Amino acid sequence: MDFRKLFLHSSLLVLHFAFSSSKDTITINQTIHDGDFLISRENNFALGFFSPGSSRFRYLGIWFRKVREQTVVWVANRDDPINGSSGVLSIDQYGNLVLHSYHNLKVPVWSTNVSVEATDTCVVAQLLDTGNLVLFDDRSKSTVWESFDHPTDTMLPGMKLGLDRRTGMNRFLISWRSAADPGTGNFSLQINPKGSPQVFIYWGTKYIWRGFPWPWKYYAYIFNASFVNNQNETYAAYSVSDASAILRLMLDYSGLLKKIIWQEKDGKWNEFQSTPRSPCDPYGHCGTYGICDPEFLSRRFECDCLPGYEPKSPRDWHILKDASGGCVRKRLESTSLCGHGEGFVKVANVKVPDTSAAVWVSMNMSPRDCERNCRRNCSCSAYASIDIAGKETGCLTWYGKLMDTAHDREEGNDIYVRVDAVELAEIAEKWNGFLKRKDMLAILVISVVSAWFVIILFTYLWLKKKKKRVENQVEGSMSHPEIAFFNLSTILAATNSFSPANKLGQGGFGVVYKGKLSNGKEVAVKRLSKDSGQGIDEFKNEVLLIAKLQHQNLVKLLGCCIQGEEPMLVYEYMPNKSLDSFLFNETRRSILDWRKRFDIIVGIARGILYIHQDSRLKIIHRDLKTSNILLDEEMNPKISDFGLARIFKGDQTHEKTNRIVGTFGYMSPEYVVFGKFSTKSDVFSFGIILLEIITGKRNNSFYQEDFYPSMIGKIWHLWREERAWEMVDSSLKHSCSPDEVLRCIQIGLLCVQEDIMERPTMSAVVLMLNSEISLPSPKQPAFTFRKSSIISSSSLEPKERFCSVDEETITEVVCR
Ligand SMILES: *[C@@H]1O[C@H](CO)[C@@H](O)[C@H](O)[C@H]1NC(C)=O
Ligand SMILES: *[C@@H]1O[C@H](CO)[C@@H](O)[C@H](O)[C@H]1NC(C)=O
Ligand SMILES: *[C@@H]1O[C@H](CO)[C@@H](O)[C@H](O)[C@H]1NC(C)=O
Ligand SMILES: *[C@@H]1O[C@H](CO)[C@@H](O)[C@H](O)[C@H]1NC(C)=O
Ligand SMILES: *[C@@H]1O[C@H](CO)[C@@H](O)[C@H](O)[C@H]1NC(C)=O
Ligand SMILES: *[C@@H]1O[C@H](CO)[C@@H](O)[C@H](O)[C@H]1NC(C)=O
Ligand SMILES: *[C@@H]1O[C@H](CO)[C@@H](O)[C@H](O)[C@H]1NC(C)=O
Repeated sequence: MDFRKLFLHSSLLVLHFAFSSSKDTITINQTIHDGDFLISRENNFALGFFSPGSSRFRYLGIWFRKVREQTVVWVANRDDPINGSSGVLSIDQYGNLVLHSYHNLKVPVWSTNVSVEATDTCVVAQLLDTGNLVLFDDRSKSTVWESFDHPTDTMLPGMKLGLDRRTGMNRFLISWRSAADPGTGNFSLQINPKGSPQVFIYWGTKYIWRGFPWPWKYYAYIFNASFVNNQNETYAAYSVSDASAILRLMLDYSGLLKKIIWQEKDGKWNEFQSTPRSPCDPYGHCGTYGICDPEFLSRRFECDCLPGYEPKSPRDWHILKDASGGCVRKRLESTSLCGHGEGFVKVANVKVPDTSAAVWVSMNMSPRDCERNCRRNCSCSAYASIDIAGKETGCLTWYGKLMDTAHDREEGNDIYVRVDAVELAEIAEKWNGFLKRKDMLAILVISVVSAWFVIILFTYLWLKKKKKRVENQVEGSMSHPEIAFFNLSTILAATNSFSPANKLGQGGFGVVYKGKLSNGKEVAVKRLSKDSGQGIDEFKNEVLLIAKLQHQNLVKLLGCCIQGEEPMLVYEYMPNKSLDSFLFNETRRSILDWRKRFDIIVGIARGILYIHQDSRLKIIHRDLKTSNILLDEEMNPKISDFGLARIFKGDQTHEKTNRIVGTFGYMSPEYVVFGKFSTKSDVFSFGIILLEIITGKRNNSFYQEDFYPSMIGKIWHLWREERAWEMVDSSLKHSCSPDEVLRCIQIGLLCVQEDIMERPTMSAVVLMLNSEISLPSPKQPAFTFRKSSIISSSSLEPKERFCSVDEETITEVVCR
C-alpha cells in the first residue's frame, strides 16, 4: 500500500510531463492529472478535468472534442467535486479506475468499484469514439465496467437506457443540479417496465411526463430510436442516420428532455425538440379518466372527460379550470358496467392512457377478438388494437384507471373505452338524430319554453353587451397593452370608408384594405366575413390569444375592431405585398436571387415551426400559400392569416372539419378528401410553397399540360430521372449552387409525400434546411395524378362530403 502511494506521487512527477495527449487509453502505471486528457481515436471525445460555469470545483468528465463550446456528456465524481486542480485518475491494484484528490491519496473521491478477477496489470481503460469510457481485461478483452452503464444527464447514440434483468442493472439519466453544478439533481429519465414499458421523466419519485408507450410507431428522422423488450432486457436506444452529425439527448437541470444538435455553421447547439412543452404534456394533466386536447380548438379548456365519465368536481373543472381531480363514471351507483348491455366507444387518435395498468393480450389478434377479450373481464376498462410496424395487430387492454390520455392527431392510436348501456344508448341517439314519436310532444313543449327563455336571455345579454361596448370604447387599449381596440369611425377614416381603391386583396376569411391612421402609420385592415360562428367575447378572447404570438416571421397583429357588422383585424402593413406577386411575375421574379429565396424559405419554415410548437398555443394554419406570405421592406417573409383557423372554427370536430378552408394546389390529400388536418397538412403546404419558390411556377398551373398533372407531378418525375435541375427557375440558375438547390428540392419533396407519417415535422424541416445532415429519399408525392381526377375518381363513401369546385384557386370550399 505504501509502495503504491509512493508510486502515485512519483508517477505524478514523472508521467505528468511524459503523458502524451493523443492517447486514448490508460494502463496500470499511468495517471491522468488535471490538465491531461485522453482523446478518442477519431478525435470525437475527450476525457479530463473541468469546472462547469463559474464553479471553482473540478470534476472528471467526458466532453465533445469537436464542439467549440465545452459540452460535458458524462461526469464521474458528480457529487464529490475536487477542490482546486489536484485530481489524479489512475488504476488501482484491484483493477479499478480510481480518482483521488492530490491532497488525499488514501481515500478515493470516486471509484468504478467493481470486483475484477484479472490482476491489475492487464486492465486497461480506453475512451472510445462513441464517448464510452470502458475498463477492460486486455487478455480476454471482456469489459468489466463502462461509463455508458452509468450515465449522468446525457444519452449518446449507442447508449442503452433501461433495465438489464440478468445483472439487475437499471440505467437512467439524472439531471444536473444547475448549469454550474453537475451534482445529482431532482429530475430523472427512466424506463418503467410495469405493464407495457414506458419512458417517464420523474421529479423525485413522482412522474411529471410520460413518453409514448411502447414505441410501436417509430419513424426516424435523424434520431433513429429503437426499443427492445424481452425477458432479459428492456431498454431504449437510438442511432444516428448521419454519422457526421453531432447530437445528444439530455435531461437538463430544469427537467426538460431535449434533443440537441451541434450546428457548426452557427457555432452553437440547436434545440431540435424539447418536452414537456404543450399544456397536455404534464403527466395526468386532466386527472383520471380525463382527456387533454393540446389544440383545444373546439372548447375553452383543454380538458375533457372520456366518454361515460363526468368531472368529479364540476366547480373546479368548469370554473377554476382545474382538472386535477379527474373524472368519475356517470351513474356509478345505478348501473353496472359489467354484463348489463355495456359496450365500447371509440376515441380516435390519442396518446393511449398510461400503460403501466395495461396488458398485451396478444401480438396477433383481430380487433373483434380484442374487444371480446376485454368484454369478458369485468375489470377491463378499455382496449386498443394496435398496428405494430405494419406487420401485426397487437391487442392492448387496460385494467383499472385510465390516466394521462391526450389527443395526438399525428401519432395517436384509437382506443375503445368501456361505457354502460345508458351511455351507449345516448351516443347512438345522438348519432341517429331521430327521436321516438312519443317524446315529440314533450320535446315540443320544452323547446317552446326554452326558446322563450333563450330569447329573453339573448335580449338581456345583448343589452348588457351593448352597454359594455360603449364602455370598451372608453377603455380603448388601456386594458390590453399589446393590442388596441379601434373604433369603427377610426377604421372608416383610415380606409377611406373601405374604398375600392384601398383594396389590397381577398383572403380566405375576408377582404383586406390598406389604411392610414391619423398618426400617419400605414396598416392593413382585414374585414372578416360574418359567419365565424362566434360571439363578440369569444372573438375578443381569440384575438387576444393570437396577439400574444410574436415572431419575426409572423405578421404583427396591431388590433381589432368589434363594432359594426363584421369584426375586423388590423395588421402592420407590408409594403412589398405577397410572395406570389414576385414569384409569378415575369419581370419582378428576378429581384429574388437564390440567397433571398433561400432566406425566405427558412423564414417561412421558422414561422410555421413557431405556431406549431414554440408558442404556447398549438396552431395549424390550414391555408398556407404564397399569397399568404407577405414581404417586408427587406424582403423578410411574414406569414399572415395564422390563427384565423381558430376564429373560424365553425362546426369542426376534433380532427375533421366539415368546412374545408384552403386552396387547391396547397391542400394535403388527407385534408381534401377527408377534411382531416394536422400539423402535417401545413408541412405539405410548406413543401408546395418551397417548390414554387424554386421553380417559379404555380403548382396548379399545369392542368392544361397533358402529361403532367401538376408542378409536383413533373418535378417528381424529373427528380427520379435526376433531371430536377431542369425545373429550377431560369432566373435563379446563375445565382445559386446546384447542390444547395437540389437539397432544397429534396426537402420539398419530403414534405409533400402522400403518407402523413413519412412527412417530416416542421422542426425536422428547419434542421434539414440549416444543416448538412443527410436526407432520406422522398417517396411518391400526393396528387401526381391528373387534377380533374381528384374530384371525379373519388373513392369516397356516399356519406362523405363532396366538394364542388369550379376554379383552381378557390379560397374557401364549403362542403355539405
Ligand atoms: C509498473 O511499474 C512498476 C514499478 O515501476 C513495474 O514494476 C511494473 O512492471 C510496471 N507495470 C507495467 C504493466 O508497466
Ligand atoms: C477549497 O480550497 C480553498 C483554498 O484552497 C479554501 O479556501 C476553501 O474553503 C475550500 N473549499 C471547500 C469547500 O473545501
Ligand atoms: C462498492 O460496492 C459494494 C458492493 O458492490 C458496496 O457495498 C460499496 O458501498 C461500494 N462502495 C462505494 C464507494 O460505492
Ligand atoms: C430538489 O427538491 C428539493 C425538495 O423539493 C428542493 O428543496 C431542492 O431545492 C430541489 N433542488 C433543485 C436543484 O431544484
Ligand atoms: C436471454 O439470456 C439468455 C442467457 O444469457 C440467452 O440464452 C437468451 O437467448 C436471451 N434471450 C433473449 C431473448 O435475448
Ligand atoms: C435504425 O435502427 C435500427 C435498429 O438499431 C436499424 O436496424 C435501422 O437500420 C436503423 N435505421 C436507420 C435509417 O438508420
Ligand atoms: C381480469 O384481468 C385481470 C388483469 O389481467 C386479472 O388479474 C383477472 O384475474 C381477470 N379476471 C377474470 C375474471 O378473468
